Parts: sequence; structure tokens; C-alpha cells
Amino acid sequence: MAIPERIIWSIGHLEIGPGDRILEIGCGRGVALAEVSRLLADGHIVGLDRSDSAVKAAIDRNGEGIAAGKVEIMQAALADYAASAGRFDKIFAINVNLFWLEAMRELTVLKPLLAAGGRLYLFFEPPSAGQIDTIRRAIEVRLKTGGYVVDEVVTGPTPTPPLLGIIARPGA
Ligand SMILES: C[S@@+](CC[C@H](N)C(=O)[O-])C[C@H]1O[C@@H](n2cnc3c(N)ncnc32)[C@H](O)[C@@H]1O
Repeated sequence: MAIPERIIWSIGHLEIGPGDRILEIGCGRGVALAEVSRLLADGHIVGLDRSDSAVKAAIDRNGEGIAAGKVEIMQAALADYAASAGRFDKIFAINVNLFWLEAMRELTVLKPLLAAGGRLYLFFEPPSAGQIDTIRRAIEVRLKTGGYVVDEVVTGPTPTPPLLGIIARPGA
């Protein structure tokens, strides 16, 4: 299966190190989990999704990573998630719309999960390039209200597909 461009582009922005501890929110069928796990040596990635069918597909796709102890997949809504794997250096989500709709509870849950210096990466491929500014503004407002600082905003290299990434960290 060809890996969607948004996933390749998003992973490129994570600058993954071999020992990173990573959480993916809304991992869907586990495509990014599988790609990220190949970049890890002694690192670890947890995939979280509330959908039963998505979690089953992600487990199927990531059998090797799970057997190697690099990948863990959990079924839960983010608002109810209690991490068992400790803190994360990087937490990311790709195309999880709750972050620009309403995510105050979820942003509160995530803050203590970030290790010192850890960052939150929110990536989107909206249906049209015209939505990028609306989504960016909505997310920036939510992040600020939730006590995060936006470090960087990145957009895709070409107009097709439209891609947006917002990289943030907990404020002081
Ligand atoms: C549009 S899909 C994106 C899947 C994958 N990240 C991708 O880019 O192909 C969004 C996924 O996020 C999950 N999701 C949405 N809201 C969630 C929440 N509050 N907690 C956990 N998972 C959530 C959905 O079940 C779905 O699998």
C-alpha cells in the first residue's frame, strides 16, 4: 500500500531520534505507527484510537513492531486516556479534527504526558487549501487557551495536497 503523502510529510517534521518516546493520537489503521517504528531503535511508540475497527486494523499492520516491544496500541478516547508508558518526547496527531473543533479537556490530559522539552505536533490535510488559515487560527486559539505556546507553523511544499502542521509545547 502506498503511504499517503500527508503521513510521510508529517513524519518528516517529527525529526525522530532512535530513542524517542512517542504517542500518536488517532492512529487510525496504524500506517504512521508502522513507519515511525522503523525509525526507532530503543524508542517506543504508543498508538491511541477510540475506534474498535481502527485499533484492530492497526494491530494487524503492526504485528512486527508489537512483537519487538516498540509499538503499543490502545483503544480509548483521548479525554479518558491514562498513560501507562510514562512521559513522551513527542505527541502527534494527523487529521484528528477535535483539535480545531473543541479540545480543551484533551489538551489538559496531554500536558502532563509530555516529558521536559517535549512537543505536541498537530498535522492536517484539509479538503481544500482555503481551509488552512481557518484551521490554523482555531488551533492557535485553543492551544493558547489551554496553556500551550506555538513554536512553529509549517505548511506543505505544494498546493496539492494542502498540508498544515502546528508544533507547540506547554507554556511556563
Ligand atoms: C480521519 S482519521 C485519521 C487517521 C490517521 N491519523 C490518518 O491520518 O490516516 C481520525 C482518527 O482519529 C480517531 N479519533 C478521533 N477523535 C478521537 C479521540 N477523541 N480520541 C481517540 N481517537 C480519536 C478516529 O477514530 C480516527 O481513527
